[in-house]
Amino acid sequence: PHPEPGRGGRGLTARRSGGAGGKGGAAGAGDRAAARAPSSTANLGPGYDVFGLALGAFHDTVEIESVPGGRDGRVTMAEPGRGMPAAAERNTAGLTVKRMAGAFGSGGGELCVRVEKGVPAGYGMGSSAASAAAAAVAFDRLFRLGLEPAELVRFAGDGEAASAGAPHYDNVAASILGRFVIVKSARPLEVVRTATPPALHVAVAIPDMAVPRSKTAVSRGAVPRRVPLGGCTANLAAAAMLVEAMMRGDADAVGRAASCDAIVEPAREHMIPGYRGVKAAALDAGASGAAISGAGPSVVAFAASATERDAVGRAMREGFAAAGVASRIVKCKPCDGARAVKLPKGRAR
Ligand code: HSE
Repeated sequence: PHPEPGRGGRGLTARRSGGAGGKGGAAGAGDRAAARAPSSTANLGPGYDVFGLALGAFHDTVEIESVPGGRDGRVTMAEPGRGMPAAAERNTAGLTVKRMAGAFGSGGGELCVRVEKGVPAGYGMGSSAASAAAAAVAFDRLFRLGLEPAELVRFAGDGEAASAGAPHYDNVAASILGRFVIVKSARPLEVVRTATPPALHVAVAIPDMAVPRSKTAVSRGAVPRRVPLGGCTANLAAAAMLVEAMMRGDADAVGRAASCDAIVEPAREHMIPGYRGVKAAALDAGASGAAISGAGPSVVAFAASATERDAVGRAMREGFAAAGVASRIVKCKPCDGARAVKLPKGRAR
């Protein structure tokens, strides 16, 4: 569906591939394309806005249709689901499509965007990013653009700003490219993807609690603007070790490094009831590490076997229960990124 970025350290800058000359192929009225993108966890402890890991726990699917007789350049949402913004510019998939239509044209017609949500929204599982990622890949497919992966990441990240309030590319990069990603957001955007350790197992505890629609913006507001040099040094060391462990395939060392965050975790943990207890329970049960998943409130834990991961999941659920909060445990592994999919059959227009 889109060019492969290669493994282990090949950098990708945001630029257009030669494939369609940037102008896009023709999409006629009634043409449709769809793509499916996975959930993700961002930050992995020390890598705020830099690290992302695609998780095969949930997926979003986005379908884009060029509407016969529609108004040129207009983007609409089909059947917005419960709690999903109806206006295209307030929906991450819709905004991504609008931005891409602005850059590449819309084939002379209106584009209708349909989102099938699989990723729970607002819990730090990269829900808004998965919709944006699937939208970018579906748009690329519909107009046969052949965009570079980093450019897809840039459009999806700008689309995700619809929900986060500010663009950050860690979740969308993981969702588009798959596996483990490292993002340098400064223009030009650069993204690196690495393989993940085969033994890396993940348990995510999703607390059953109300989250505000603007959760990510609120949670980002808690992060300090100025940080002490000691915190930077500690996070830099942990981040470097995490990358080295990821590339060496050491699941234990990945978790140990992900547990170390001297800057963002202390600033956000008060937003998650019982966070310290949940993390301690995960580590006691054999997790190699645990961290806030993205902007929270889910907690992600890493283990080097399925047996350990299952025990860790049970311990995290008990940890949340001790704080009076029910939770759902999701067991998963790192996965590949977004891909174009066959269209659902027999959809009535
Ligand atoms: N890096 C972002 C944050 C991820 O922590 O705010 C949000 O999903």
